Amino acid sequence: MTPTLNEAVGSAHSRIYAYGAARGENAVPNDDLIGPIDSSDEWIRQRTGIVTRTRAVKETTAVDLAVAAAAQAVERAGVDPAEIDLVVVATISNPRQTPSVSAIVADRVGAGTAAAYDINAACAGFCYGVAQADALIRSGGARHALVIGTEKLSDIVDPTDRSISFLLGDGAGAALLGPSDTPGVSQTLWGSDGSKSEAVRMNATLTQFRDGEAPWPTLRQEGPTVFRWAVWEMAKVAKQTLEAAGVAPSDLAAFIPHQANMRIIDEFAKQLDLPESVRIARDIADTGNTSAASIPLATHRLLEENPELSGGLALQIGFGAGLVFAAQVVVLP
Ligand SMILES: CC(C)(COP(=O)(O)OP(=O)(O)OC[C@H]1O[C@@H](n2cnc3c(N)ncnc32)[C@H](O)[C@@H]1OP(=O)(O)O)[C@@H](O)C(=O)NCCC(=O)NCCS
Repeated sequence: MTPTLNEAVGSAHSRIYAYGAARGENAVPNDDLIGPIDSSDEWIRQRTGIVTRTRAVKETTAVDLAVAAAAQAVERAGVDPAEIDLVVVATISNPRQTPSVSAIVADRVGAGTAAAYDINAACAGFCYGVAQADALIRSGGARHALVIGTEKLSDIVDPTDRSISFLLGDGAGAALLGPSDTPGVSQTLWGSDGSKSEAVRMNATLTQFRDGEAPWPTLRQEGPTVFRWAVWEMAKVAKQTLEAAGVAPSDLAAFIPHQANMRIIDEFAKQLDLPESVRIARDIADTGNTSAASIPLATHRLLEENPELSGGLALQIGFGAGLVFAAQVVVLP
């Protein structure tokens, strides 16, 4: 007789129990950045909605930010850290490629021997992590999972670059997920378009830097290409995500898009025809674009400022370098 495998058994559903956040220590206003890029406070405010961005001091690393955010999420969830068996960290900016950020975070928050790995999905990284944690909790691969987006983007910006440097900030946001009797995470819609891989990119490799062929690698983007892709393609993905979840725009308590540009956020809200009752995350104004950290940071803040959103539905959508994207509807803790 052919031997059969035991069925993998997980929880019927998963949900987010709590969020944690850590932002870079300094608020950096537009005026501090405009000199080397021949820009102005007015231009940056009008084109992006950014007034200041948070940036970390030299001594603070993306690992430190991740640990601080994760520790807060664990504490707020009231889950014993020893019960966490999965730690997923989304990041593109940690300058030390190995060991993974996630293994260090697992150790520092007391998650013992939890499975740990990092993912590189840029500004969609947090939503990728939520999709994976939800699937693993439902299939028995994990019971309690930490999903963290952490970035110290100020380490990979060139102050003379006018394509992206002025948008970027530093911070980390974390969510703790666990088993649930009712659905707390909808189907995820995700994908990529590698034909546009050069639209957001590092401008050199580490080996070119080592060999003296390029300066320290920093981020660049083709702003208008990404802008158009975000507004047209991502608005469609957002609509399809609501359909897959069986949710109407008026059912939402909050809309939490990646904090890339206030004009993109406004355009999404228009295209989705969101009623006034839906709170829209606008953390970008004083945090800047923190890539993988932007959605959990914005969610954490929305919940701090509007505790009545607890228990409501939030549509989140991340998109960025790859190009890659992911969106889902979550029940807010
Ligand atoms: C980067 C971004 C803010 C630029 O805004 P934009 O309105 O597209 O600006 P453009 O590149 O079309 O340039 C418009 C004008 O501003 C100028 N300009 C460009 N960057 C500038 C800057 N940093 N400061 C001042 N002027 C600038 C251009 O030279 C151009 O001048 P011109 O009209 O005289 O030719 C915008 O494209 C954007 O946010 N893109 C998407 C970002 C995103 O979602 N990234 C996701 C991955 S994180």
